[in-house]
Amino acid sequence: LRKHLIDSYGREIRDLRISVTDRCNFRCTYCLPDEGIEWLPRADLLTFEEITTIARTFTERFYIDSIRLTGGEPTMRAQLPRLVAMLASLKDHRGQKINLSLTTNGVTLPLIAEPLREAGLDRINISLDTLRADRFTQITKRAQFERVLEGIQAAQAANFSPIKLNVVAMRGINEDEIVDFARFGRERHLQVRFIEFMPLDGANAWERNNVLTASEILAQIDSVFPVEPPQRSSAPATTYRYRDGKGSFGIIPSVTQPFCGDCDRVRLSAEGKIRTCLFALDEHDLRAMLRSGATTAALASEIEAIIQTKWAGHSIGRVNFIRPAKSMSQIGG
Ligand code: GTP
Ligand code: 5AD
Ligand code: SF4
Repeated sequence: LRKHLIDSYGREIRDLRISVTDRCNFRCTYCLPDEGIEWLPRADLLTFEEITTIARTFTERFYIDSIRLTGGEPTMRAQLPRLVAMLASLKDHRGQKINLSLTTNGVTLPLIAEPLREAGLDRINISLDTLRADRFTQITKRAQFERVLEGIQAAQAANFSPIKLNVVAMRGINEDEIVDFARFGRERHLQVRFIEFMPLDGANAWERNNVLTASEILAQIDSVFPVEPPQRSSAPATTYRYRDGKGSFGIIPSVTQPFCGDCDRVRLSAEGKIRTCLFALDEHDLRAMLRSGATTAALASEIEAIIQTKWAGHSIGRVNFIRPAKSMSQIGG
């Protein structure tokens, strides 16, 4: 009954990322325009039942073993724990619960970390790009730094493990905080991951020059906290262990060392469209099929056909690169 979901380049898709809303309570410039976007009308969003039907099609018909919830800011979606509980009942091909994770800006976690854990969420990744309150307000346009720190603590108190901290590394913005973040991760037992800035920002102001590169990040950290050569690179992050045994950090080198050849991802948008790549220029609607009562078998064969349109990878920095019309906030990262 189950099939391997393999694209035309031989890559097996195993990881589904579901955007549950396009809304966000922050306005980070690298992700969303200052003025916000025209939010999707409520009726355009998939219901929790519809999301679960599509997720079940992926997990029961194919070898999808992990699902990540994204946004916008996913915790802006009312009753998120209810959706988590529905998805937590899905089983992978070994009959085990699928791995369920969430990427969030952290601000709602003081309220919601525990209910999410109880509902069956396994892992949380939290976005935080600075450890300075004033700079936090400049980047996010919201004075919520303390609240995010409380969110991290709430996630730890709820026993999420590992907790990863996503830091978008930008030249001239936070390049002077790389070592501070490494230290923060070591002290707090968080896995910090530095992400190369990608051209999906809100202001369309991305420039190659503003990308703080993986090798620059590594050099900065290694000079203060020496690291071992990476033993494993489980895309997208390459993990570096500290020589003194005090944990590790990751780098996601999307721009300077693309990992598209190992890509195992597919994305479902909040309005029910499949996106085969972060940088895809088109999306494929499943909502209409779903709402006209399509069977699981029909959905599965449509998904298989869509996956065949997945391209080899992005071409950031090359002349043929075309930026997708959506910014990161509408794609979910
Ligand atoms: P883990 O399962 O914990 O490794 O999560 P993740 O890194 O896949 O997810 P997360 O949402 O935390 O994303 C971290 C960063 O990696 C974000 O900046 C994403 O945009 C980037 N990223 C995630 N998936 C892809 C991808 O398929 N391609 C590229 N180029 N970047 C990605
Ligand atoms: N480049 C790289 N990463 C980005 N993110 C948001 N916008 C960008 C960008 N332009 C990251 C966020 C979040 C993850 C889902 O995507 O920090 O952690
Ligand atoms: Fe996969 Fe596209 Fe990301 Fe490359 S850019 S890793 S192909 S989603």
